[in-house]
Amino acid sequence: MNVLSTRDLHKQYGRITAVHKLNLNIAEGTVFGLLGPNGSGKTTTLGMILGVTRPTSGEFLWFGERAHHSQRKQVGAILEKPNFYPTFSAYKNLQLACKIKDVGEYRIAEVLEQVDLAERQHDPFRTYSLGMKQRLAIASALLADPRVLILDEPTNGLDPKGIAEIRQLIIDIAETGKTIILASHLLDEVQKVCSEFAILRRGKLIHNGRVDANFGREAIIQVGSENIPLLERVITEFPGYISHLKLKDTLEVKCETGTRASDVNAFLFNASITATHISTIKKNLEKQFMEIVSNHE
Ligand SMILES: Nc1ncnc2c1ncn2[C@@H]1O[C@H](COP(=O)(O)OP(=O)(O)OP(=O)(O)O)[C@@H](O)[C@H]1O
Ligand SMILES: [Mg+2]
Repeated sequence: MNVLSTRDLHKQYGRITAVHKLNLNIAEGTVFGLLGPNGSGKTTTLGMILGVTRPTSGEFLWFGERAHHSQRKQVGAILEKPNFYPTFSAYKNLQLACKIKDVGEYRIAEVLEQVDLAERQHDPFRTYSLGMKQRLAIASALLADPRVLILDEPTNGLDPKGIAEIRQLIIDIAETGKTIILASHLLDEVQKVCSEFAILRRGKLIHNGRVDANFGREAIIQVGSENIPLLERVITEFPGYISHLKLKDTLEVKCETGTRASDVNAFLFNASITATHISTIKKNLEKQFMEIVSNHE
């Protein structure tokens, strides 16, 4: 079942097309990454599906229906920097949020436990680290036990430890069966956390698919040799050969999916070529991302 479908969802700000006729379908249980560089329309998209930004045209359906009030509790979100009272504790801030959202206060202990803030729950918000503040925001978004959680750049500004904590938290929340929609400009983040993703570029959807189907598909094997010209001639005969790149004293050989360094080694051995070095390198993810993006220039 699709949790969210958008149909030609479009947002125009004067001459700027922030989001261009976007069609997305997000299935229940997916961790969906909305990936794109700064200004590509991610926040605008999230704003529209949350009813904060009015679309210029097009529509979106939550759970197969046009947006209506009773869906509100089903969708928890963190869009902008959350507004918490600095002098109030996490507990007190969540108490207020419960009143606003009409949620029973028994949920406070549950969500604080979930985001690992129980220990600090009575300290004032202003004394929290950035990572703790972000975790409190996620706790607040989870109060009404929504089916969908929407996060806009959830790790912005955090240090590596804080980033890892938030990513783990997102993965843990996904395991409880919730659908997560996450906007990020970090390919690495989308790859680590999401099961599906879409790439936006200047408001247009340029790619949509499963994370694992798109990245690291081809194997890149690095082969060193003292006789590069010979190696360069012979390697093209390798059965899984696609292409190669000549570096100073190594070749980077692009091979078909599933090719292992040992396959190349055995092939070269049979051809009486001694490799000084042979290893599999993971294709730089950013590079693949840039390839997808630049194919749409
Ligand atoms: N209120 C607004 N008025 C005018 N233009 C806007 C407004 N909000 C967004 N835009 C423009 O729409 C485009 C998309 O912006 P948006 O914030 O959705 O991008 P984003 O992908 O979230 O970027 P970032 O990664 O920087 O958060 C940009 O060109 C932006 O300048
Ligand atoms: Mg944004």
